[in-house]
Amino acid sequence: MLQVKIPATSANLGPGFDCLGMALQLYNRITVETNRPFRITLSGSYKEGIPTDDTNLVWKTMCHFWDLINYPIPNLDLTFENFIPPARGLGSSSAAIVGGLVTANTLAGSPYTKLELLQVANALEGHPDNVTPALYGGVTLSVSTENGVLPRILTQSPNFKAVVTIPNMHLNTKKARGILPDQVHRKDAVFNISHVSLLTEAFIRGDYSLLKEGMRDTLHQNQRAALIPGLLETLEAALETGAYGSALSGSGPTLLALIPDNLEKDVPLSMTKALERHGINATALVLDID
Ligand code: HSE
Repeated sequence: MLQVKIPATSANLGPGFDCLGMALQLYNRITVETNRPFRITLSGSYKEGIPTDDTNLVWKTMCHFWDLINYPIPNLDLTFENFIPPARGLGSSSAAIVGGLVTANTLAGSPYTKLELLQVANALEGHPDNVTPALYGGVTLSVSTENGVLPRILTQSPNFKAVVTIPNMHLNTKKARGILPDQVHRKDAVFNISHVSLLTEAFIRGDYSLLKEGMRDTLHQNQRAALIPGLLETLEAALETGAYGSALSGSGPTLLALIPDNLEKDVPLSMTKALERHGINATALVLDID
């Protein structure tokens, strides 16, 4: 039997659109029994709408990998235990892709290194900011170079917790990317370049007093506020309650706040209340960084 555990991830962290991300201690689990007739069984909190035939994303990714390396598709009995909510900005599709690749690679005798798996994961997902932390853990920077994605781990076990406030609505990443303009103003580009630099310093030095300013963004959050009622007010409410910083998680609708331990109750409450004022029910989880 083989078991693979893949973390949820939060991408962008404010200004780091398509390049910054962090892994969270919330997992999907893949269990494999070999030499059994093909079967996919779903368990965990999220099963609805997830196919159990050959259109399943984890399985499709596994077959894609074996195809790449010319490996025959084995007979497997698979159980996918899902605790990462789908279509909420917590990296569920990256978890499926990374989980599929790590499982398929292990079953084939690990011909690919982690860095090689990252390149395949990035090509399948289309952007590296979730797949890098899902593979490496910690808070990560993904640099897209001529030779593929260069992954950097900025910090592995930071001294803060992540509040993920999950609105009771789905948001498709394609739609949330589709509303962003193709071109940006120079002053907005400069704003984000300088803020990602500040944020990188904050994570590397462990100076969380820099997170509040460092997590500000001009490239996507204001634009996506049109799709998520109460987005900007909720991020502000988290800061007013003492969070180090706050941002939209990935393409949303989940909202992320980074907090010291003593605000585990106050920040989730202020965020869910702010969303409630906009008619949105939400569930808040307090998670450690993976
Ligand atoms: N960087 C991506 C986006 C993350 O914001 O569209 C999507 O999960």
